[in-house]
Amino acid sequence: MPSVSSPPKLYGELASWFHLLSAPADYAEEAEFARNLLVQASSTPPRTLLELGSGGGNNASHLKVHFQMTLVDLSPGMLDLSRALNPECEHLVGDMRSLRLDRVFDAVFVHDAIMYMTTEDELRQAVETAFIHCKAGGAAVFMPDVVRENFVSLTTHGGHDGEGRGIRYIEWTFDSDPSDTTYTVDFAYLLREGNRPVRVVHDHHVFGLFLKEVWLQLLQDTGFNPNVVADPWGRLVFVCSRG
Ligand SMILES: C[S@@+](CC[C@H](N)C(=O)[O-])C[C@H]1O[C@@H](n2cnc3c(N)ncnc32)[C@H](O)[C@@H]1O
Repeated sequence: MPSVSSPPKLYGELASWFHLLSAPADYAEEAEFARNLLVQASSTPPRTLLELGSGGGNNASHLKVHFQMTLVDLSPGMLDLSRALNPECEHLVGDMRSLRLDRVFDAVFVHDAIMYMTTEDELRQAVETAFIHCKAGGAAVFMPDVVRENFVSLTTHGGHDGEGRGIRYIEWTFDSDPSDTTYTVDFAYLLREGNRPVRVVHDHHVFGLFLKEVWLQLLQDTGFNPNVVADPWGRLVFVCSRG
């Protein structure tokens, strides 16, 4: 069953704030880590790269130096933001569960946007989309924030200042039912614009949570040859080659 929760405000009315919440410069190491995995898992050096759920284009701002990139996201506002940062990349509105571009890429990358797949069915659909768009001999990398085994409830905060405005946020990760496949992340954003009073907005995100074995089974069932590697930030990354 598709998820029924309303889409996060961060990707709708607040999309223009995304780079102040999550700055492109902070993605350099992660993007380089993903790039190496994609190259190692490919039978020949990859040139074209499809990113599903590319968001503000933060990873792409580093990866585009190495690949010809096509960036797909559900949110037109996030694509606008990414287009301003990455004008040399192709940008397309699309849902990673159902996208069909009728062309293949040397490699496919899915970063934290995969967290919005909240059921096994949705995760399978996204993996199938990646598989269908990956050429034979190509590679796909999936980088979920967490899997069931390494989930912990936590609270973090952050934010940045921009031209005439700034954001600070607190982020509360919580799993109210460890027997289902979701957990929630509640954000309180403090938005400052010029000298106007700070505005407070609550945002609710529902993320998917799956056992490593479920991930591996889905990837195998789809036709990928998957491997799991630990990244330097304590996460598990699924690295797949397509035979
Ligand atoms: C945290 S942002 C991704 C940021 C990205 N890692 C970057 O480098 O900027 C998550 C994105 O997932 C997108 N998203 C959520 N569900 C999606 C779906 N079914 N298909 C495509 N994109 C989706 C949202 O619109 C949002 O832009």
